[in-house]
Amino acid sequence: MTTYKICLLPGDGIGPEIIAEGVKVLDAVGAKHGVGFEYEEALIGGIAIDETGTALPEQTLDVAKAADAVLLAAVGGYKWDTTDPTKPRPEQGLLGIRKGLGLYTNLRPVQIFGALSQASTLKPEVIDGVDMMIVRELTGGLYFGARERFYDEAGAGVDGACGQRAYDTLEYREYEIERIARQAFEIARKRRGKVSSVDKANVLETSRLWREIVHAVHDADYADVELEDILVDNCAMQLINRPADFDVVVTENMFGDILSDEAAQITGSLGMLASASLGDATALYEPSHGSAPDIAGKGVANPLAQILSVEMMLRYSFDMSQAADDVRRAITHVLDEGWRTGDIADACTAPERKVGTAMMGDLVVRSL
Ligand code: IPM
Ligand code: MG
Repeated sequence: MTTYKICLLPGDGIGPEIIAEGVKVLDAVGAKHGVGFEYEEALIGGIAIDETGTALPEQTLDVAKAADAVLLAAVGGYKWDTTDPTKPRPEQGLLGIRKGLGLYTNLRPVQIFGALSQASTLKPEVIDGVDMMIVRELTGGLYFGARERFYDEAGAGVDGACGQRAYDTLEYREYEIERIARQAFEIARKRRGKVSSVDKANVLETSRLWREIVHAVHDADYADVELEDILVDNCAMQLINRPADFDVVVTENMFGDILSDEAAQITGSLGMLASASLGDATALYEPSHGSAPDIAGKGVANPLAQILSVEMMLRYSFDMSQAADDVRRAITHVLDEGWRTGDIADACTAPERKVGTAMMGDLVVRSL
């Protein structure tokens, strides 16, 4: 029997609750398809700060590197919220593991589940047919550039008084743009054959380089794929205006961070969005949402984005596309039957079909 080693990173907030449901589903898939999954848990985020003083202990990176895939839940919480640049932050764990595993491609699929079309704040005719893949560059740009906060004697304060200054640096190298562009074109070929490349080339030098490289890659090797450039501010507007027109959206790190949250809302809930982070070795799978500290420990969080990230793991790391399709079908079935966690429930939800985290996981397993 094939056995895969999976590194589990529950993290903070609702993390431990939702990852347990991901594991339930993996075990069920394993039993059904004759594959074994072995788990090793490691610390990341706020809990790692509490226990080791750093958001990404070296041992965690070692466990992740030795695994066949990493399943992460979420990091962060009020307890570690600080603007003090000298204090560790949970998010450093996430950024650190992405960098440490070389995960430069972040895939965030935005799809509508028919049963949830009412959950969107957009009109049904606007979201009809929405099916896009956001391809976010994940290890470059502003989130990884040099940054500093310092006291400036030369007058950063009001009226020329001393004051604080801070900067972040946005930098991209040709190879970083080229490899993410290739990923986007490859994915587009397996979908509807269209790439929207998002930048701010009317202002930013990095964006002008981005645009040039994306076009060079396109013209050389992917002329069969349709390519459009779209400025990030316009893209933010068009995502709401005509979301079904987008197929593959490729963009740099920060724009992708912001636009993927916006795109998630088209589906009605961030609780339904999974993501895959791929590099040249071990890949990482996580929900697109955060640790939801306000509902942590209550057993009410929606585990479906975590379960959908298991679906992506089966597809991308283990080449088990049939098993992945099974998981998606199971979720669709559960939703069609009317089962809802709080975030996706509405006035039409029968009270007895409103369920918590563990029950939602059980329902998916049952339907598998
Ligand atoms: C995400 C999150 C992270 C990011 C944060 C927590 C560092 O917002 O995965 O989208 O910005 O990448
Ligand atoms: Mg984000």
